[in-house]
Amino acid sequence: MNVLITGGAGFIGSHLADKLLEKGHRVCAMDNLSTGNLSNIEPLMDHPRFSFVPGSILDESLMRELIDESDMIYHLAAAVGVKYIMENPLKTIQINVRGTEILLELASVKKQRVLIASTSEVYGKNGAVPYKETSDRLMGATSAYRWSYACTKALDEFLALAYWDEKKLPAVIVRFFNTCGVRQTGRYGMVVPRFVEQALKGEPLIVHGDGTQSRCFTDVSDAVRAVVLLMENSSTPGEVFNIGGIQEIAIRALAERVIQLTGSRSSIQHIPYEEVYGVGFEDMKRRIPDITKIKQYVGWEPQVSVDELLLKVINYYRH
Ligand SMILES: NC(=O)c1ccc[n+]([C@@H]2O[C@H](COP(=O)([O-])OP(=O)(O)OC[C@H]3O[C@@H](n4cnc5c(N)ncnc54)[C@H](O)[C@@H]3O)[C@@H](O)[C@H]2O)c1
Repeated sequence: MNVLITGGAGFIGSHLADKLLEKGHRVCAMDNLSTGNLSNIEPLMDHPRFSFVPGSILDESLMRELIDESDMIYHLAAAVGVKYIMENPLKTIQINVRGTEILLELASVKKQRVLIASTSEVYGKNGAVPYKETSDRLMGATSAYRWSYACTKALDEFLALAYWDEKKLPAVIVRFFNTCGVRQTGRYGMVVPRFVEQALKGEPLIVHGDGTQSRCFTDVSDAVRAVVLLMENSSTPGEVFNIGGIQEIAIRALAERVIQLTGSRSSIQHIPYEEVYGVGFEDMKRRIPDITKIKQYVGWEPQVSVDELLLKVINYYRH
């Protein structure tokens, strides 16, 4: 099968490319390399079934050509990372909304299967965890740019569901919960690579706020296995799925664990959110997925523990 991955030089996209090539598909990765990196796909460049196309999902004629040639599309290209979103509010909306609409409209001609990458951020400040796919979403004020990412992804979900309902475009939506692993960069505010780099350099690990906020980290190998299972299953179009780890860990505890596993002498330093992201920044206290639905549809469960995930990232940064 000819598979198109938008954002294919990114963190999740490059792991997905590895997996799909392993399964015998022909993979075209397209990316504008804004947060992605050619080094992520460097080892694939000579693969006979792999191609890389530089460009933007906002380039309609390029997208028409790429979509026309593909049998299946994984749409991962997006403006991502809290830091990036806060610094690029307009670009975030344009890429995440206009880009996705261009893709869905073009795909609705041949009706290829499409996967839309959404996020656990769509649940916003709803404190009632664990989140089911049908849980309410609670967003902050529009003056806080942080929420624009969640809103753009929620709009992508609405668009994909509408294209399924009205045009029978077989789109499946996934909400990733803090996906981490090798090749992820800490540059845009991702916590695991940032802590590991700080610990290995012997620098203080910077925890935002009091560190009691918690997350469920998912190893990228688990996340990639999940999306492939969902795209291979005929009952998933028009459905939304949480993809997340089930081991909850507070950010302060995560920092302590990274220090232990690296054997670092680093200290832990707390910095108020306002100092990092400006006045009025809001964060979610806990973010826990209910994964009953994906388990029922395709039998997926995460297999990699937080410690195993951290060790993989530590080894990656060491080498
Ligand atoms: N990693 C996570 O924890 C997580 C959580 C929730 C959702 N997601 C979603 O998963 C997807 C992949 O994220 P990731 O973690 O691999 O981040 P990433 O930054 O590595 O991947 C995004 C890719 O999209 C590319 N891109 C951005 N704008 C583009 C454009 N206009 N045209 C073409 N390419 C463009 C970037 O260069 C990058 O390679 C994104 O849609 C993201 O919103 C990720």
